[in-house]
Amino acid sequence: MDSKKRHLKHIVIVASVIPIVIYFIAGKLLMYRDIPAHKKPPASSAEQHWEDPGPYHVAYPRNYRFIMDDTPTCRTTTPFLILVVPVAPSDVEKRNIIRQAWGNEKLVLGQQVETVFILGLPRGKEARQQQEKLQQENQQHHDLIQNNFLDSYHNLTIKTMVMLEWLAAHCGEASFVMKIDSDVFLHVPNLVKLLLDPSTANQNYITGLVWWHGPVLRNPFIKFYMPRSVIAESEYPPYPLGLAYVMSLDLPGKILGVSPQVKPIYIEDAYLGMCLKRLGISPTDPPERTMFLINPTHPLSSCSLSKVIASTTTGISQMKSYWERVRQGVHC
Ligand SMILES: *[C@@H]1O[C@H](CO)[C@@H](O)[C@H](O)[C@H]1NC(C)=O
Repeated sequence: MDSKKRHLKHIVIVASVIPIVIYFIAGKLLMYRDIPAHKKPPASSAEQHWEDPGPYHVAYPRNYRFIMDDTPTCRTTTPFLILVVPVAPSDVEKRNIIRQAWGNEKLVLGQQVETVFILGLPRGKEARQQQEKLQQENQQHHDLIQNNFLDSYHNLTIKTMVMLEWLAAHCGEASFVMKIDSDVFLHVPNLVKLLLDPSTANQNYITGLVWWHGPVLRNPFIKFYMPRSVIAESEYPPYPLGLAYVMSLDLPGKILGVSPQVKPIYIEDAYLGMCLKRLGISPTDPPERTMFLINPTHPLSSCSLSKVIASTTTGISQMKSYWERVRQGVHC
């Protein structure tokens, strides 16, 4: 290669690297823009007395309150299985479809199953109207459990922790809870079958799509970045992915018991894994790989649908169509 060509090659390399560098720097700036600036807590409110948790932790001072909570679930009923669906306040469409689909399965293989939704406070300009709509929705269905933390993606860990508080306070007599995301397809009979199986433990039991050796992501430009200063280990303890996990109802109280010793990070399911590790409890793999599916090839075959417990979908309408196919009967 003559020197002119080499020179040209250098220019090309430098020219193509510059936009990448700019892209990353811009990404980093944008990321920090999303992080709420520290707000001085008003001295009057006892509830606001926490430190700014920073971008990687969440404020979970253990004194959030439930402001909507009149569901009969676990009060006048003792279900075998409770399905808890974390939702955003504005997700009314999704809630309605779930109420028609798997959320409507109340007696499965002789077992009582109930579905409730958990959410925080609406934010933004429309918050007031949204809150009124939520109240009306709840008057009709009595299945909303609302806590007074601000609902946002960054606050999902708080949502999970207050869900555990609610379960520990009310559902000690019930057997199992599944936390399931709103656009996940759930085959309720297959889940109940697994939970009734004599080989399924009814204490210290948590299963789902367990991530063993999940790496702590160190690239600051991607989702779920976690600096070494927050988590020094290179791997998270094993945890079931947040889209759908099921646990025996002795666990909520136990997890809450150790959680003051484990500072909450914003990654909800990884935090659960950290608390489980502190408890000395390991998640259990489901007996079959076909039971929990993440990003499978869609549409699922009748054979996969007949074996699945929970699967991600491309959206709520596909979720409903899977549910209808299963109801009409699917075989392998
Ligand atoms: C999370 O909730 C807390 C309590 O309501 C709130 O102070 C904080 O701003 C919320 N964080 C985000 C990112 O919404």
